[in-house]
Amino acid sequence: MPVEIAPSILTADFANLERELERIASADWVHLDVMDGHFVPNLTIGLPVIRRIAQISPLPTDVHLMIDNPDTYAPEYAAAGATSVTFHLEAAKAPVRLSREIRRQGAKAAAAINPATPVAALENLLDEVDMILIMSVEPGFGGQSFIEQSLAKLAQAKRLIGERPIKLETDGGADRQTMPRLAKAGADVVVAGSAIFGAEDPAAEIEVLRELGR
Ligand code: DX5
Ligand code: ZN
Repeated sequence: MPVEIAPSILTADFANLERELERIASADWVHLDVMDGHFVPNLTIGLPVIRRIAQISPLPTDVHLMIDNPDTYAPEYAAAGATSVTFHLEAAKAPVRLSREIRRQGAKAAAAINPATPVAALENLLDEVDMILIMSVEPGFGGQSFIEQSLAKLAQAKRLIGERPIKLETDGGADRQTMPRLAKAGADVVVAGSAIFGAEDPAAEIEVLRELGR
């Protein structure tokens, strides 16, 4: 299976989101970063904007919640029409219950871990999630440089997943240089923000990254 490309709109033009979505329509997902100014030191978009994007997006929506209290808020994003809802394991109080609730609301459930959180922390969640996200930068900002240790974590997560139908996603610092190594380490879905929206032609860049991930 070729690696799926999930452009993050964090570096897109927030005044023209519909047009920006058209520019990446050849991707596999659109990655939507929700930040609350508490879990991470940055603030982006929230539920009303995600709801509207889910309505108009030509692509499945991959909502990445970098927020405190996902137990309360994540199910609302699922109910708002997100295809997949990712919460951070570091912020969740009851991740099993939360994953079930997200699924009950009709979305795929995903759990993310920060660079300093060990992969083993996901072990008891494997029957409950559709995707695992290994952060390859500290969450909060686009355009940061890739943390090399993430490659070993991806390989470890791949082994942990085994034959289960769980996708392995990576987020942060993906570009032409890191893409081949991310694919080799086992990533199924690669999020890329600045590499795609910083390119002159985002659609062409998606193709370049896809080729490098083969
Ligand atoms: C970072 C976000 C990422 C970000 C990636 O906290 O979760 O999705 O947009 O941006 P790049 O690809 O520029 O590292
Ligand atoms: Zn993200």
